[in-house]
Amino acid sequence: MIKRILFLLVLIFLISQFLRPTKNEASYDSIATFEAATIVSAEVKTILQNQCYDCHSNVTRYPWYMEVSPISHWMAYHIKEGKEHFNVSEWESYTDKQKNHKLEEFVEEIEKKAMPLESYTWMHGKLPDSDAEKLINWAKQTSDAITKGKEEPQEKVTDSLPVKVSDSTVVDSI
Ligand code: HEC
Repeated sequence: MIKRILFLLVLIFLISQFLRPTKNEASYDSIATFEAATIVSAEVKTILQNQCYDCHSNVTRYPWYMEVSPISHWMAYHIKEGKEHFNVSEWESYTDKQKNHKLEEFVEEIEKKAMPLESYTWMHGKLPDSDAEKLINWAKQTSDAITKGKEEPQEKVTDSLPVKVSDSTVVDSI
């Protein structure tokens, strides 16, 4: 009886290897856009690459154990969930308000030690306090820069618009 059950389990395990989840492997360009927009230092970049991008971007690195079912499915689920909440590859599609909100959550999650997910730290190690501090400082600076930068383009647009409109109406009426 036990032998049969074991045999069945092994069989299920082997068959499940053919049911591969779709991989999360887009080009790094989508992340590079985010890194340029948020002025990520080389140091912060390395921390994000090692601790966050696997679940919060369209580019996941796949060590061999992540290719093995059921771990592959479990990881795919985390990636899907993580990306739904915060995806650096979609950074440019967020409004300034959303960007600031994500950065606020980013700081909160790190302060609570909720990110990276605990299961991820089994293989990748915990986020050292000194790295956590660097990430928090970077997120706060980025958020400040977004808030400050927001006012300039708005003023420019309203200044230049009436001029253009009146120019064309003058031409039209002659
Ligand atoms: C193993 C996958 C994984 C890794 C690695 C990971 N996250 Fe997450 N993250 C998730 C999942 C899943 C969620 C959504 C569910 C939750 O909040 O627990 C999430 C949610 C978030 C959120 C949004 C929280 C909210 O309130 O909506 C932020 C911000 C975040 N993570 C930041 C980070 C940062 C920063 C790192 C790196 C230090 C990181 N994560 C590493 C999987 C991951």
